[in-house]
Amino acid sequence: METSTTPTSKRGQSPKVLALIFVGAIVVTVTITALLINIFERKQEGHASFAPVVQIDETVVDPAVWGQNFPSQYEAFLRTAEFTESAHGGVMVPHDVEGDPRTEVPSSKLEEDPRLVDMWLGYPFAVDYRHARGHEYMILDQQFTLRNTEFNQPGTCLNCHASTPSMYTALGDGDRQAGFLAMGTISLDDAIELAEHPVSCIDCHDPETMALRITRPAFAAGIAELKALEGVEDYEVNRDATRQEMRSYVCAQCHVEYYFAGEDKVLEFPWEKGLDIDDIWDHYQDVGHVDWVHERTGAEMLKAQHPEFDIWAQGVHAKNGVSCVDCHMAYEREGAVKVTNHHITTPLADINASCGTCHTTGDGVLADRVTTIQDRFIESRDRSLDALVFLIGDIETAIAEGTPEEYIDLAREYQNKASFYIDYVYSENSYGFHAPDYIQRILSQALDAARLGQLALTGVPAEDLQPSVTTVNNLNASLRSQ
Ligand code: HEC
Ligand code: HEC
Ligand code: HEC
Ligand code: HEC
Ligand code: HEC
Repeated sequence: METSTTPTSKRGQSPKVLALIFVGAIVVTVTITALLINIFERKQEGHASFAPVVQIDETVVDPAVWGQNFPSQYEAFLRTAEFTESAHGGVMVPHDVEGDPRTEVPSSKLEEDPRLVDMWLGYPFAVDYRHARGHEYMILDQQFTLRNTEFNQPGTCLNCHASTPSMYTALGDGDRQAGFLAMGTISLDDAIELAEHPVSCIDCHDPETMALRITRPAFAAGIAELKALEGVEDYEVNRDATRQEMRSYVCAQCHVEYYFAGEDKVLEFPWEKGLDIDDIWDHYQDVGHVDWVHERTGAEMLKAQHPEFDIWAQGVHAKNGVSCVDCHMAYEREGAVKVTNHHITTPLADINASCGTCHTTGDGVLADRVTTIQDRFIESRDRSLDALVFLIGDIETAIAEGTPEEYIDLAREYQNKASFYIDYVYSENSYGFHAPDYIQRILSQALDAARLGQLALTGVPAEDLQPSVTTVNNLNASLRSQ
């Protein structure tokens, strides 16, 4: 009997074979159709988030309008109004102050650590300093901090606390650079009158192409200085930065150490000599910048604030090209579309999404690692800050006891240095995570400065307080050269 089911049989197909082919064809057709439908749906999804529903240009500040074109990004963006708890991020506390519309605010760092008041005595920060929260509150928290309501602040403050492109245009009569420069000539309260919204889509995106862009002149100038130090001339950030660089630069416009220069209080970044804290310290010494005079010791002081970019840049992630956005705005998958998570907050809220693309050790291991880094940071920070508080007390006593003025002056310089170095890592909001070893180095420099300040009070001259060994890092090389 002919039992072959080989379809190539010259005598034509048996009914069995035909049936099989028929069933097979149906299966294939159904599969292909399903696949096509699926691809079509995915394409639809892909399109849905980019189909322009409304026309957007440079005048549209309201994120809700942009949100009509990009609903997924907008939905997440709105969530910056929620408070995300984290180990070191503080908690929300009830708030009842006359004239202040906020019924709750993030807890006070001054109450958490009263040594901060000793460190900043005579400066508004000693009066009110709280944990940060989401972007949605940036105008409100700035307007009603006691640092503004009890001490008048310049409009320059608003550069990082509102959507500014349209404000610059209005203030500068169409010229954004002129508008930026004018910010320091009006009060913060007047500037806030002009503000339409906290940081918005237009601050990070080109409305025509949706490409990332830099909208802050202070950053454009600062990064050009840094690139010039690397030998890159005429650097123009919006023309020359890579996409991966932009994924950190957009944040670096605000999450940086800064100061106000000159009479018109122009926002500047201290990067002319480099991004290392020693370069920044040297820059401030050169330009003679002073933020305030310490109430108890009379020392001329510097204040540091939130150098997240500056410190991240020294860490292993930056060296490996990992951007702020990789951790703080990790992709989320919606069907076939990868969406950048616009709910910017602590990456530990979802460590799998934030770190899991690169680290596959599993939740527990990585979370433990972060805790260890942060605990070790806090230990070192606390020792250095204790040492600074002792130095402040010793200078005060020395003044009362009539210690020679030159001893006291030298001790004051060391107070400023210890204070700036501790402040630099204290006001950096990762609690040591962004560059653990670099931060430990800074804290040992701070501890050393506090110790040298105490020695200075006993009359040890400045030249004897210089580091004794400068080649210590290169011991092997110096042994070999003998
Ligand atoms: C270069 C950008 C920049 C400038 C300029 C700036 N800020 Fe901020 N500010 C930030 C960032 C980033 C945070 C969030 C991180 C943090 O709290 O350390 C913040 C947080 C704050 C907070 C909430 C936490 C706290 O400190 O209590 C207040 C209030 C505040 N700023 C007030 C001001 C005032 C007043 C000025 C002007 C003297 C000012 N800011 C200028 C970037 C800036
Ligand atoms: C603080 C800066 C910032 C703000 C504010 C911001 N974005 Fe983004 N957005 C980004 C970054 C960073 C990316 C990733 C871009 C890249 O990798 O090239 C992005 C990507 C996007 C994309 C591309 C698709 C995607 O999800 O990756 C869209 C669309 C988008 N944003 C829409 C918006 C809208 C709408 C708003 C306002 C509601 C907004 N963005 C506000 C920084 C911002
Ligand atoms: C226009 C200035 C500005 C830009 C641009 C900006 N930030 Fe912020 N950021 C702030 C200010 C101001 C606050 C504090 C707001 C407050 O406490 O009211 C803040 C708060 C935060 C917080 C704390 C949120 C929380 O839930 O506790 C994180 C995290 C953060 N920013 C990360 C980023 C990242 C990442 C980028 C870039 C994608 C970025 N920011 C871009 C000004 C800015
Ligand atoms: C490798 C991942 C990673 C990168 C890259 C990174 N961060 Fe972070 N960041 C963290 C972690 C982890 C924390 C600690 C969060 C915590 O303690 O809850 C943190 C904390 C912060 C905080 C304080 C968050 C809060 O809830 O108050 C801010 C602000 C911040 N980072 C901004 C930045 C900026 C700006 C950049 C880029 C210049 C950056 N980060 C790069 C992982 C990262
Ligand atoms: C885009 C990839 C990427 C992401 C996202 C990322 N990392 Fe990393 N991480 C790296 C690379 C690369 C290194 C360096 C590895 C090496 O040198 O062996 C590293 C190193 C580390 C280290 C060792 C640090 C050191 O100083 O030796 C820790 C801890 C770490 N990552 C934690 C995290 C955490 C926590 C997150 C999320 C908040 C995260 N990483 C997100 C790529 C990433």
